[in-house]
Amino acid sequence: MNKITIAIDGFSSTGKSTVAKQLAKHLGYVYVDSGAMYRAVTFYAMQNGLINKDDFNVEGLIYQLPKINISFTFNESLGFAEVYLNGINIEKEIRKLEVSSFVSKVAAIPEVRQQQVKLQQKLGDSKGVVMDGRDIGTVVFPKAELKLFMTASAETRAQRRYDELIERGDDVTFKDVLKNVQERDYLDSNRKDSPLIKADDAIEIDNSNMSLEEQFNKILQLVTMTI
Ligand code: C5P
Repeated sequence: MNKITIAIDGFSSTGKSTVAKQLAKHLGYVYVDSGAMYRAVTFYAMQNGLINKDDFNVEGLIYQLPKINISFTFNESLGFAEVYLNGINIEKEIRKLEVSSFVSKVAAIPEVRQQQVKLQQKLGDSKGVVMDGRDIGTVVFPKAELKLFMTASAETRAQRRYDELIERGDDVTFKDVLKNVQERDYLDSNRKDSPLIKADDAIEIDNSNMSLEEQFNKILQLVTMTI
């Protein structure tokens, strides 16, 4: 069967990665979480003293970019690839609210984006890929055969993220999670380089009132029509 590129963009916590993983598994495609890459760069900056409270050494991070090596390794039991920073698995660390609260500032730096987009394009160059993010259909794979743009209300998205973090044992409040979701939406949509916008040829899916199963079936139908 013809292998295609599936680009899934949208606001924070719209369930992009959940449906992307389901699709990749079902189709035997590779799943790439591009947000994890920006989170990994942010985590590197935090670990190396380039981000301290609200003090962010942007020049220092740009200088150190060549030292940042991001890779993915498939985890059989989880069924998806986990992200590694310079050979160390950082999948858990990058999901924390401290990383979330800085990642949109790091992702707005053009030099960071250039580096990550190059890697994303390499990871998807033989098609058969489902990639989720903010600029996949507009910048990374503008010729993707299927582009989806996911939305849901900020409250619905914050509740989902809050539930996930609590289940993992993180000490967070709903108010802080909602604030983070809204701040990231604003920063991601208003940055100069590759802002979050719906590609003209993307299909919008508002999943505020959809079950995971309904969403998966709807998207699978779109994939079948495209292949
Ligand atoms: O998808 P996730 O919420 O994990 O992404 C974290 C952050 O990474 C986003 O809020 C955004 O700032 C950045 N990002 C981006 N471009 C992408 C993917 C993520 O700027 N393609």
